Amino acid sequence: MSEDTPRRLGRHERYRGEHPIVVSGLVNCFGEQTVHENLDLTVRRGEILGVVGGSGTGKSVLMRSIIGLQTPDEGDIHVFGQSLTEGDPEEVVGVRNRWGVLFQGGALFSTLTVGENVEVPLKKFYPDLSAQLRHEIARYKVRLSGLPEEAVNKYPAELSGGMRKRAGLARALALDPELLFLDEPTAGLDPIGAAAFDRLTLELKRTLGLTVFLITHDLDTLHEICDRVAVLADRRVIAVDTVPRLMELDHPWIQEYFNGPRGRAALTAQALDELRRHMDLPAAAHAVKVLDKPPIGSDKA
Ligand SMILES: Nc1ncnc2c1ncn2[C@@H]1O[C@H](COP(=O)(O)OP(=O)(O)OP(=O)(O)O)[C@@H](O)[C@H]1O
Ligand SMILES: [Mg+2]
Repeated sequence: MSEDTPRRLGRHERYRGEHPIVVSGLVNCFGEQTVHENLDLTVRRGEILGVVGGSGTGKSVLMRSIIGLQTPDEGDIHVFGQSLTEGDPEEVVGVRNRWGVLFQGGALFSTLTVGENVEVPLKKFYPDLSAQLRHEIARYKVRLSGLPEEAVNKYPAELSGGMRKRAGLARALALDPELLFLDEPTAGLDPIGAAAFDRLTLELKRTLGLTVFLITHDLDTLHEICDRVAVLADRRVIAVDTVPRLMELDHPWIQEYFNGPRGRAALTAQALDELRRHMDLPAAAHAVKVLDKPPIGSDKA
């Protein structure tokens, strides 16, 4: 019996298998348009998996399929070893309260305060919780997401874009998830706000032992916090690997994305150190050589 063989997890039992998400042979079509064709993807427990791909390649649709908001035309999706495509609806509900989701647009309820937003999933999955305990938990999640305590009583419209993302994160963390889905969490944030959000994601992964499925266009995020990155192109996942190894691959989109001017500009000091650890890989060695060169016209040239 493999570690991913379906077995119903106890309510307070954590998933111990190696692969909390296994997608195989996924097909998604909208009318004539085929978004995914035989897409396979395996996510490892405890990793931050970055998901990249051009706009419209189906990253959000993939996430929606995994969390059951989009019924695939074909294929199998296992989360925590249980099939969501064939599973008994009761068991599927048991899996659903083990993940948290931050949607691309934030998707907070505008008529509810931040605290009330965080309480929505608590009310749904723990109806017996007293109102006082629910408020306390919401307050704690708001603080955990790096917001000041006063934010609990504010409405989404009263927050900055960065604060709204954190409020969305607080709601995603409401049920103490083992798995966190983030759809472009740093889009629209200034570089400092984005870096702070990245650090928070990494800290949450490390301290709470989360597995993170992270859709992003942000090259800094990919370099700084992702353990591996999955690349969506040609209607499937064409590669899953560390950034230095992806940079080795001879695919036009991958080369343009990671080795183009923006890709190079995103190589911060920390990312450079990471590349230096992979000097056995020609692309990493090359990138380090290019970036170590003083700019043309400088005194050191
Ligand atoms: N509910 C839907 N009905 C019809 N077509 C859809 C639906 N949802 C998504 N699509 C189409 O599927 C394709 C993939 O969409 P998706 O939102 O997953 O892209 P994405 O990779 O997340 O892009 P972006 O980086 O811009 O967020 C697009 O062409 C989109 O128009
Ligand atoms: Mg999207």
